[in-house]
Amino acid sequence: MLKVKVAPSILAGDFARMGETVKTLEECGADYIHCDVMDGNFVPTITFGDQMIRHIRPYTSLPLDCHLMVLRPETRLEGFARAGANMATIHVEECRENTVQMLRLIKNYGMRASAVINPNTPVESIFDAVGDADMLLLMSVHPGWGGQRFIPETLEKIERLRTFCICAGKPELDIEVDGGITEENVKDVISAGANVIVAGSTVFRSNDLKATIARLRGE
Ligand code: DX5
Ligand code: ZN
Repeated sequence: MLKVKVAPSILAGDFARMGETVKTLEECGADYIHCDVMDGNFVPTITFGDQMIRHIRPYTSLPLDCHLMVLRPETRLEGFARAGANMATIHVEECRENTVQMLRLIKNYGMRASAVINPNTPVESIFDAVGDADMLLLMSVHPGWGGQRFIPETLEKIERLRTFCICAGKPELDIEVDGGITEENVKDVISAGANVIVAGSTVFRSNDLKATIARLRGE
């Protein structure tokens, strides 16, 4: 069984106190900080850009896992790398058939490289990325907002992606799942083959961050 990692999404946090928030998440046992970057174009919502990454960077030594819901992510990569992002995840829908090239570009900037697909994008669309990716992300809600319900069809996509990774000789590739994950459905997500769990509302609505993060990790 792969080690399960929990990546709380700061989208659900208090934007006026983000430094303290990421420090607290680290103290409470988070493995990564999931940063939802939205540009108001790829998705209707606007959140923050690389400036937020630069500002929170001194408050944590955890990897900053940047989910780029933006048009033309290739134009943003340098800014995120300079700001201290450790990982950049780009949407296959915005890669115009060049996912592999984009992953290599991310690595050239010194970040771990990851690709993501939306719920309506077939899982086969991400198979090409398996060879070059450090992680792959499957969206289990439509991107743009926190607090939505988990789309159950994602479970089959996770299974198919894990099987593909095994057959491609990368059985331990990190598979991250993002959206609507709760303490109840996380077990199904992990047994389907995912090992990096994004959780926004579930973590931030909790009165005991440490216990919730531990339970999401299956402890
Ligand atoms: C949605 C974001 C998610 C979101 C998850 O576009 O990519 O990371 O913050 O939030 P919850 O866990 O509340 O669904
Ligand atoms: Zn996300």
